[in-house]
Amino acid sequence: MAIVKPLAALAGAALLLGGLAACAAERDTGTTSGGSTETDTQTSEVLIGVTMPTKSLERWNNDGAQLVELLESMGYTTQLDYADNKIEMQISQIENQINAGAKVLVIASIDGESLGPTLEKAKAANIPVIAYDRLIMQTADVDYYATFDNYLVGQLQGKFIEEKLDLAGGAGPFNLEPFAGSPDDNNASLFFGGAWDVLQPYVESGQLVVPSGKGPATKADWKSIGIQAWKSETAQAEMENRLNSFYTDKKVDVVLSPNDSLAMGIAQALEANGYQVGVDWPILTGQDADKANVKNIVDGKQSMTVWKDTRKLADDAARMVDEIVKGSAVTTNDTTTYDNGVKVIPSFLDLPQVVTKDEVESDLIGSGFITADDIK
Ligand code: BGC
Repeated sequence: MAIVKPLAALAGAALLLGGLAACAAERDTGTTSGGSTETDTQTSEVLIGVTMPTKSLERWNNDGAQLVELLESMGYTTQLDYADNKIEMQISQIENQINAGAKVLVIASIDGESLGPTLEKAKAANIPVIAYDRLIMQTADVDYYATFDNYLVGQLQGKFIEEKLDLAGGAGPFNLEPFAGSPDDNNASLFFGGAWDVLQPYVESGQLVVPSGKGPATKADWKSIGIQAWKSETAQAEMENRLNSFYTDKKVDVVLSPNDSLAMGIAQALEANGYQVGVDWPILTGQDADKANVKNIVDGKQSMTVWKDTRKLADDAARMVDEIVKGSAVTTNDTTTYDNGVKVIPSFLDLPQVVTKDEVESDLIGSGFITADDIK
């Protein structure tokens, strides 16, 4: 059994991670194999495989870098792969990690439903699997899930809109355009469901009107407005279409965007359409606290973001890895919510938090998640 540093060391390492965000330098196709500087050979012989979806989104760079830093500070050897949002590439990366003798796999999947046969191979090799951030669906061969409370993310977005527009006080009607995330990402369903549970009653009461007709009849129909691969360009094109087709004689008051990459494209479409901050710029939601979006928040082009401190998530995943390797009980705090279609996966959920212009300084900069220079 590997010798690992005590958990106190992990907590200390987590504190040191503030400035780590920009340090991942691998290409999307690249692999980083890092060895510990520890002299303890037993520990450094334990390989942990980490796969992330893409380097094109800021958050996954942060997640990968932080997780590797933590695991290596605990003495593990790591292999970190990014798959350029290509499912086949991710599958072969995971298979390579299995063949390389990984003892635990941490996977942030691209397509939650396509990893079943690959994970069968992990199971056959006795390698436990932790789904990271995104649940891996339709397989018995996933053991744990480390994530944020994804339904709560959507609720926070919906409630923000409800409050800003005083919908509970009866205000309206307002023009709303809803967006949803990638149809292959289970999180996207939870984000939209959380938001739509707040907003749909106001669509039914007529306080929210969706001029494009793109308000799903039920939250289960969210895929009809899903933006494949969470692409900014696709969200921008979709928003431009809606504005050009349905807003020739009216203004949009509020846009429900599930995350920052979509919000970025939507903001560009609004700008191109002549919307102006302080004049007619709509409420626009987001998630992740990506630097460019935080800058938009400061500039008034995005109303909020749901911040998920990826340092916490990396911390949880590293702790789970360590517990698994040590053979101790794995810490979870939710054993009922995350059913992947085959079984309920024991999960550890962190809490997301709303950040508006008012909290950028105190929370994002104050905690070291970003620096003041990042958003200049
Ligand atoms: C993550 C979000 C992210 C999105 C796009 C989701 O699964 O939870 O934080 O914005 O993927 O990468």
